[in-house]
Amino acid sequence: MDSQILKQLEGYDKVITDIEVLKRYGYNYRLDRGLAKKYVERLHPQNIDVKVIDVIEETQSTKTLRLASKQKYLPPFQAGQYISVIVEINGIRTSRPYSISSSPDEIVYYDITVRRVEGGLVSSFLLDSITIGDSLQISAPAGNFYHNPIIHSKKLVCIAGGSGITPFKSMIQHAINTGTEMEIWLIYGSKNAGELIFHDYFSMLASKYSYFHYIPVLEEGTGTYKGYITAKIIKEVVGDSSDKTFFICGPQALYEHLLKELQPLELKPKQLRMEMYGVPTDVFAQPGWPKDINRNTTFVIKVRGKNSFTVSAGEPLLQSLEKNGIVVPSLCRSGECSLCRVKLVSGKVYQPEGVKLRQADRRFGYIHSCAAFPISDCEIII
Ligand code: FES
Repeated sequence: MDSQILKQLEGYDKVITDIEVLKRYGYNYRLDRGLAKKYVERLHPQNIDVKVIDVIEETQSTKTLRLASKQKYLPPFQAGQYISVIVEINGIRTSRPYSISSSPDEIVYYDITVRRVEGGLVSSFLLDSITIGDSLQISAPAGNFYHNPIIHSKKLVCIAGGSGITPFKSMIQHAINTGTEMEIWLIYGSKNAGELIFHDYFSMLASKYSYFHYIPVLEEGTGTYKGYITAKIIKEVVGDSSDKTFFICGPQALYEHLLKELQPLELKPKQLRMEMYGVPTDVFAQPGWPKDINRNTTFVIKVRGKNSFTVSAGEPLLQSLEKNGIVVPSLCRSGECSLCRVKLVSGKVYQPEGVKLRQADRRFGYIHSCAAFPISDCEIII
């Protein structure tokens, strides 16, 4: 810009004088241009290139992958948060969120613990094709499922189902490493003893620390507690629940079951934290799903400025987009983080309960593509 024009701007002379003074006697802040961005990116990088440095067999269907950064630095995280693992499988670029199962005190690596999902594209790939020395790309840690000492009680009741145990491994290990003043009950529901992940580790902790209580509840086989996790079991092991915060993580069926079971405990909303755990696997069984739409129903999705393609009912829009080579940024894949938002120009989608759409999104027609299931032909803008 012409300096004569600049000189007419109010305060211009003062800025020039300040710069000259700083150059002569102090620090030239113009040199700092981009410094804040550099620090923000270091703390919260978009993507991180990691190397698998160990693979630990946990159960027949579960392995822990230990990931170290190729840049030799991993951002800090809160125990309970997750990372998104980005992969390309058979030409499809996709991602899946995995809770970090190692403690934040382990600063050189993140552990993710992967259980095989029947027909699961990414879990099968990670379990069958990834070995020590392989490279992966991950997101920075994210998520709100962690203990906040200002809001939450020091008495924690952690209830896990299946692979929902993974954030608790991190939270409990961190609490113990840092000499916690907390008292923690871990109630862990599993099909059988063989499928309990980290069982030996939690048993060892429970025998060593009087403030940690480990209660496995098995659907099959022997054990003190059998069947499903019930209000009766919770009351028996935890006692009075009015002074405790409950953290729950597990498959959809666990939430549906527990929300009924917890009713007699009369917990206040702030006493309950639930981790988002993907979208329902059987959306056809969800309340409000249109009865006339079944697995054989198909719809046409038009992506403005790109192509159109046909999808089958029951598949999240994000997944269909990825299958058709359209990459939309994503993180939680549970309808929570908003990263996968797209604008629905026409048509209808089903969004299960719990999808956290902002008021503005509703108003201007945005949807979370990871948790939106087309129920008519649709046109979207990405
Ligand atoms: S990826 Fe987080 S809301 Fe869709």
